[in-house]
Amino acid sequence: MIDGHPRLKVPHDQDIVVVGCSGDLASHRLLPALYNLDREGLLPEHGNVIGYSLADWGDADFRVHTLKSIATNSRHTIEDGVWDHFSARLRHLTGDGTDMRPLEALLTQGRRMFYLSTPPSAVMPIVQGLGEAGLADGSTLVLEKPFGRDVPSARRLNESLHRVLPEDRIFRIDHYLGKETVQNLLVFRFANPLFERSWNSDAIHRIEITVAEPIGVGRRGRFYEETGAIQDIVQNHLFQLLALVAMEPPLNMDAEAIRAEKSKLLRSVRVVDPEEVVRGQYTHGVVDGVEVPGYREEDGVAPDSQTETYAAMRLQIDSWRWGGTRFLLRTGKRLSKRETRIVVVFRDAPHNFFATTEVVRLVSQKVTIRIQPDEGMSLTFVAKRPGPAVQTQPVLMDFNYGHSFKTSPPEAYERLLHDAMVGDHTLFISEHEIERAWEILEQVLENPPPVVHYAAGSLGPREAERLVDPRRWHALED
Ligand code: BG6
Repeated sequence: MIDGHPRLKVPHDQDIVVVGCSGDLASHRLLPALYNLDREGLLPEHGNVIGYSLADWGDADFRVHTLKSIATNSRHTIEDGVWDHFSARLRHLTGDGTDMRPLEALLTQGRRMFYLSTPPSAVMPIVQGLGEAGLADGSTLVLEKPFGRDVPSARRLNESLHRVLPEDRIFRIDHYLGKETVQNLLVFRFANPLFERSWNSDAIHRIEITVAEPIGVGRRGRFYEETGAIQDIVQNHLFQLLALVAMEPPLNMDAEAIRAEKSKLLRSVRVVDPEEVVRGQYTHGVVDGVEVPGYREEDGVAPDSQTETYAAMRLQIDSWRWGGTRFLLRTGKRLSKRETRIVVVFRDAPHNFFATTEVVRLVSQKVTIRIQPDEGMSLTFVAKRPGPAVQTQPVLMDFNYGHSFKTSPPEAYERLLHDAMVGDHTLFISEHEIERAWEILEQVLENPPPVVHYAAGSLGPREAERLVDPRRWHALED
């Protein structure tokens, strides 16, 4: 048992190659995650952790970089014994990804996992390089988003990948699926029939899914200019949350059964009409008491950029279960608060017996699933206020992960790296999901509505309110 959890499988011996090991993702998340896995005995018993990058580093430099990354970003502090064990595995190779043959000298095992933490344009040359170096056999490949930019490019990418590796060796990451609270969505829905019985359009008026961030684009201005919020967050994280919250019960909990249901759900989402979308871009403002620049003033961003840092949209699902329920998705950078939540708003009672009584504040009954921070779930319903008069008031039943389980869940990347090493696809995205997700956004990407501006530190552009009219989005502060 680890922190009260049943022990996960120790992966077969293999080397782990992190391509792009000097970049942000590797430093912030991958290297600390690998360290924490080693700490818990969940790295393969034998095998190197090889960093591959353009940096002119030897093994010692890579060890220093890794130690700093862990010290700054790991959920556990560094323990000498663990670090000694982990750092003994670390090697570095400098290269631009075109000729992967020199890697062979550092590989110690017949199996290996390549984690490509690289810009999208580098993916295919590296994968081809692996094929040419004869390294495809025995390799699994973990890929970061974005997977293409639209349907044709995603299809081309999938076809090219399959020329080198079969689908069952390819792991497309959406790190949201590694979050404990996201996995809990399936348990919440399918282990609690009370909710599942009313999980349909008869009972549910709308489902709002929000990924709000106070951070700006920071050092990623150039990357963001080529992607924007729709490609960076909606196409993947928001659609995955949507799929899990709305899909039908799977045949069983196997990877293929779950992925098939998510795919089916995405197929029933109607292609989004650009009229149903609001794109926004932040201007300078104040976030957490600090003055911050507008998006167009960020490094690597064009002064007249039309890239969105905020997107809100209304979706329709053409299915027996969901016809008539609205699905509202929104995400934005430089918003007032960090909050990833799913709010399921139930229909009001068919007749309000209490219309003439004093109402303190009228709300609809809702289930709020807090993905992060303050991970948990709550049910809002109406109760009678104590006292002689009949006064109604919304009250909350709350479940909080920290309080109930008294443990901090592993980081998403720990879980995902481990699953890829043991070959479990459950929390990874299939080629069909990817292609359908682009299809849903096809018209918006071809014909994007103009960006409107919102001040950094605000709740986003007012224009997004029209998508929920005559109701309102749940407030970020609630
Ligand atoms: C990434 C996006 O996939 O997810 C970033 O590229 C975003 O723009 C990040 O900030 C959010 O992840 P998390 O886990 O902090 O919610």
